[in-house]
Amino acid sequence: MDLFTSRSPADTESVGESLGRQVQRGTLIALTGDLGAGKTQLVKGIARGLGSRARVHSPTFAIVNLYEDGRLPLAHLDLYRLETPEQLRGAGIEEFLQPEGVAVIEWAERLFVPGADGGAALIPESRVPGNFVRIHIEVVDETTRRIRHEDPGS
Ligand SMILES: Nc1ncnc2c1ncn2[C@@H]1O[C@H](COP(=O)(O)OP(=O)(O)OP(=O)(O)O)[C@@H](O)[C@H]1O
Ligand SMILES: [Mg+2]
Repeated sequence: MDLFTSRSPADTESVGESLGRQVQRGTLIALTGDLGAGKTQLVKGIARGLGSRARVHSPTFAIVNLYEDGRLPLAHLDLYRLETPEQLRGAGIEEFLQPEGVAVIEWAERLFVPGADGGAALIPESRVPGNFVRIHIEVVDETTRRIRHEDPGS
């Protein structure tokens, strides 16, 4: 586990950029953290680190944005609006959980936390396939973020 203290949006983007430079094909990156924590900011860095020149913005309305001009194709998902297991199942996101290139998921807690009815999570965390990286961003104050990076496979 790595811990990093970010003092600015640019700091957070650099963390993403070094991740994007190193990330291997088939990696699923699960991002968690409150509204405005900096998840999208981190994804901007990941895209840049992969060599994409695309302008990254949150796919809040599209569920997934694809950036395919980098070293590996990057799928950027945002599950914020998918609140129930039914909505998640209906969204057609399974293909991104074993990504061809790299998939990064904002609001990944939607996948791992059991449904409000106490039912099983859509995908139990222990069964997520392939390379899996988990990053939690905690808001400390207006410009400070604590970024926790876990790579359970390593
Ligand atoms: N150290 C920091 N790292 C990242 N963002 C920061 C930092 N300090 C301030 N910010 C600000 O916090 C906001 C982060 O927004 P961003 O869209 O990346 O968050 P998010 O986690 O994706 O939110 P959402 O859950 O709404 O998608 C931006 O307005 C950014 O300028
Ligand atoms: Mg976002």
